[in-house]
Amino acid sequence: MTYETLIVTTEGEGSRRTGLIRLNRPKALNALNDTLMDELGTALKAFDADAGIGAIVITGSEKAFAAGADIGVLAQHDFVKAYTRDLVTRNWETIRSIRKPVIAAVAGFALGGGCELAMMCDMVIAADTAKFGQPEIKLGIIPGAGGTQRLPRAVGKAKAMDLVLTGRMMGAEEAERAGLVSRVVAADQLLAEALEAATIICNLGTASVLAAKECVNRAYEGGLSDGVMFERRMFQALFGTPDQVEGMDAFLNKRPAVFPRG
Ligand code: HXC
Repeated sequence: MTYETLIVTTEGEGSRRTGLIRLNRPKALNALNDTLMDELGTALKAFDADAGIGAIVITGSEKAFAAGADIGVLAQHDFVKAYTRDLVTRNWETIRSIRKPVIAAVAGFALGGGCELAMMCDMVIAADTAKFGQPEIKLGIIPGAGGTQRLPRAVGKAKAMDLVLTGRMMGAEEAERAGLVSRVVAADQLLAEALEAATIICNLGTASVLAAKECVNRAYEGGLSDGVMFERRMFQALFGTPDQVEGMDAFLNKRPAVFPRG
C-alpha cells in the first residue's frame, strides 16, 4: 500500500516488530486533512490486524508532530456543513479502537488536532523541542476531537483551562511535569527512545499487554469501582494463559521469559 501523506514502515526483528507511521505533509507542518486522517486509519487498522506487529509508533517531523486540523479546509465550513458532515470527526474513533499499544513520539508542534492525536495514543514520548497546545480559541472555535475532555484528565482542570482559554503553547518540560508526557528526551534520541519502548512491549505477552491497555483506559474513562472490578476480572482471566505460565515459570527458574506467539 502506498500512502500520499504517511511514510509507513516496520522496525525491528524477530516474531514481533513495531509498526512505524510517520506523518508526512511537511509543507503544511503535518496539518491533518481528510487524506491524512483516512490513511492514518487504514495504516493503524492494518498494523492492528497483523500478528507480526506488537506495538505502533506515530511520529512526525523534527519541526512538527502535527500543527492541527487543516485550517484551509476548516475555513470552508459553516454550521450546517460542519454538523451534517460531522466535521473532522472522521477516523478519530478508529484511532481509539486500536487494541495494540500506540506510542506518540512528538517533536516540534503538537497543536489542536495534533495535540488531540497525541493524547489519543497510549504513551506520549516528547523531544525537548516539543510544544503542545490547543490554540483553537484563537481561531474563534474550540477543540473538536476531545481536547477539552482528555486534556483535563491528563493535566488537571487548572492547566487545561489555562491552555484551552488562552491558546498558549506548553513546552516539553512543562508537559512532563503536568502529566501529559511520560518521558522527555533530546530531539536526536526521540525515535530511538520510542522504538526501544515499543520493542520492550513487543517482547511481552500479547494477552497481558492488551489487558493492561484496556484496564488503564478504563481508569481514564470510567468510575473507580467499575474500573477496579474490571481490572480484577482481567487479572483473574490471565491465570492459566501461556503468558502467565511462562512469565512466572521464568521468574521462578531465574531465566528470561520467552512469551509464546500465537
Ligand atoms: C493548515 C498550516 C497549519 C494548519 C501550519 N500550516 N499549520 N496549514 N493548517 N493547522 C502551514 C502554514 O500555513 C505554512 O504554509 C506552513 O504550514 C508553515 O507554517 P508557518 O506558520 O509559516 O510556520 P511557523 O511560523 O514556524 O509557525 C508554526 C505554527 C503556525 C506556530 C505551528 O503554523 C500555527 O500557528 N499554525 C496553526 C496552529 C493551529 O491553530 N492549530 C489548530 C488548528 S484547528 P505556507 O504555505 O504559508 O508555507 C484544529 C481543530 C481540531 O486543530 C479539531 C478536530 C480535529
